[in-house]
Amino acid sequence: MRVGYVQLQPEFGEVERNLERALELMAGEKADLWVLPELFSTGYMFTSREEVRRLAEPVPDGPTTRALLDWAEARGCYLAYGLAELAGDAVYNSAALVGPQGFLLLYRKTHLFYREKEFFSPGDTGFPVTEVDGVVVGLMVCFDHLFPEAARTLALKGAQLIAHPANLVLPGLAQLTMRARALENRVFTVTANRVGVERRGGEVLRFTGQSQIVSPRGEVLASSPQEGEEAVVVEIDPTISLDKRVTPLNDLLADRRPELYELDGHK
Ligand code: ACM
Repeated sequence: MRVGYVQLQPEFGEVERNLERALELMAGEKADLWVLPELFSTGYMFTSREEVRRLAEPVPDGPTTRALLDWAEARGCYLAYGLAELAGDAVYNSAALVGPQGFLLLYRKTHLFYREKEFFSPGDTGFPVTEVDGVVVGLMVCFDHLFPEAARTLALKGAQLIAHPANLVLPGLAQLTMRARALENRVFTVTANRVGVERRGGEVLRFTGQSQIVSPRGEVLASSPQEGEEAVVVEIDPTISLDKRVTPLNDLLADRRPELYELDGHK
């Protein structure tokens, strides 16, 4: 299976331009599954709820998802991507997955970062998974990387690969945590981060690039610089994610002791 990411520099509010740029970067490479950044079509730094509502789109019936569905069908590939989702009165920081056969998966970001809390509703989907060419794929978005429960939930649901659209601003952090998420769950992870600087609403954010693909053993199979756009593809063998053994007597999922974790007692 060939998996890839697009490290992109979206321009705030330029939805059509950002979509075209992402398609242009992918056009030169062939992948079975592509991962695009969080909020790849709109940019990140909203200044009001009205602004985010104006740029958000219904999923799957909005223009960005329809364009990606057409691309997926024409190219025979799958695409995971982050976008602002308009759903009635709510706007979610969502990720979606489409394929040649149509729309497959919607995930609404669970752990909102910083001022996202002012503009988005917290996700209500939990952590769904779907099959991509017989491989179980799950979605999480950016800041979810610091909550090991997100990746663990996906792994317990059978995810072999986690597609991770991101707009990371804290340098080096997710590159470390996603290696841990990969090896503690024995899954592949594909983090598609954005680059560039946004100056809006009196604040400046610098996005940190360093998109990466990690194997179930925590090896970095591909990584990008902190700056610059690119599309990167690697060939993986997804079946290695099915082996959760650490020693002949240890299995990462079967050895769990949930009855002792008391997760329900620590809300
Ligand atoms: C983030 O969740 N965009 C840092």
